[in-house]
Amino acid sequence: MTQPRFAPYKGSRDFYPPDKRRLDQLLATVASVAESYGYEPYEAPLLEPLDLYRLKSQNSPEIVDNQLYSFADKSGRQLAIRPEMTPSAARMVAARQAGLSYPLRWYSWPRLWRYEQPQRGRLREHFQFNADLFGEEGLAAEFELICLAAAIFDRLGAKPQTYRFDLSSRPLMGEFLSDCLGLKSDQAEAAFGLIDRWDKDPAACRQKLEDLLTVEQLRAGVVERLESLLEINDLDDLPAQAQTSQSFADLKRLLADLAAAGIENCRFNPKIVRGFDYYTGIVFEAFDCHPDNNRSLLGGGRYDRLVESVGGQPCPTVGFGLGDATLANFLDSHGLTSDPPKTVDALVALVDLPYASAQPTIEAWRRAGLGLVVEMSDRRLGKKIALADKRGIPFVIVFGADELASGKFVCRRLDSGQEVSLAAADLPGHLKG
Ligand code: HAM
Repeated sequence: MTQPRFAPYKGSRDFYPPDKRRLDQLLATVASVAESYGYEPYEAPLLEPLDLYRLKSQNSPEIVDNQLYSFADKSGRQLAIRPEMTPSAARMVAARQAGLSYPLRWYSWPRLWRYEQPQRGRLREHFQFNADLFGEEGLAAEFELICLAAAIFDRLGAKPQTYRFDLSSRPLMGEFLSDCLGLKSDQAEAAFGLIDRWDKDPAACRQKLEDLLTVEQLRAGVVERLESLLEINDLDDLPAQAQTSQSFADLKRLLADLAAAGIENCRFNPKIVRGFDYYTGIVFEAFDCHPDNNRSLLGGGRYDRLVESVGGQPCPTVGFGLGDATLANFLDSHGLTSDPPKTVDALVALVDLPYASAQPTIEAWRRAGLGLVVEMSDRRLGKKIALADKRGIPFVIVFGADELASGKFVCRRLDSGQEVSLAAADLPGHLKG
């Protein structure tokens, strides 16, 4: 085999037809669940002004400093390829804020680019389903989005015991860090970043936390107390002092509401803080329970100040993003990948007949609902039948001068070898039946 001269760019993917069909089926299934919840599609440009990602309140330094594809256009404008959709959606809402009716329910399936070290479940280009609900400040927004995510998994055939939702609350964790552990605001901010990465490298995170703290804080056991907090998965196990706030009550209520709605695979996980700085409230991620696929399947939460930070009025918002690659790995690891339905019903084998003579009849069959591929070569009929078989096309219609003259067509069913002769008008019904 010759070595191809060009390979796709590292961390990006070619989608040959079977892969593209599988991708399209996945995108369509997820979109149809969003539509059934009343979410409406939107789209935004692949390129955005670089400054959109540089707003202080908005992004994780990791994305801006290390993962952004950015460049100047021919006029010197600083641009970035979008690494996520949320700032674009917030920008669009802010631009027409007064004219939109709330709550707004929006979804999209953008391609996103991040300069990552490619590995299983992490690519440089991925498709990410985004669902966002703008203009609802109550917990019903978080509730609806998690129900929507659960409905997506359900529609894809996933059983609740194969994945789980992990929830936490930024304000609740902030209160714990400041009120229970006595961290100053800059220490708490740095601690958030460490908690986000804790599971990836606990020893390094512990060391960095120690470096942040004063001798008194170290002596007071702040590191150990944070470490034991991070092991808690039941809100009732939090220290009594952390159980008195509104943010505690909200998270507890949301977990109870989800359980009451039959979504019981949810738990508190204090390590979920999310990498973006714009989240202001409850945050959540979903994980595959299969040990081979430990990347998060989706992530999101409440971000009440992003629309304002891109120039709009305050707008309470909750949303999440779900990546196609991790989702496909999830479906594979649980044997849930299905073959998309075939769109070609029959191969029309032209036998000593010009394509143009057959085309009007074939087009009438297509208008009647058939998917037909025409074998126009001068290969022998046997070869044409073998070709249909190889492609998994279920029927072959023989079309020569005799058929054109008589208006009767031999239609061969490839799995049984059975042949019937049919009038042109009866053929679509026979094939579809
Ligand atoms: P995120 O956690 O960065 O959130 O990404 C959401 C999901 O996208 C992840 O859980 C993962 O499935 C997928 N994903 C992210 N990066 C990659 C990658 N490099 N390769 C493959 N899959 C990836 C956000 O992007 C937020 N903007 C989501 C959001 C929407 N929050 C509110 N609304």
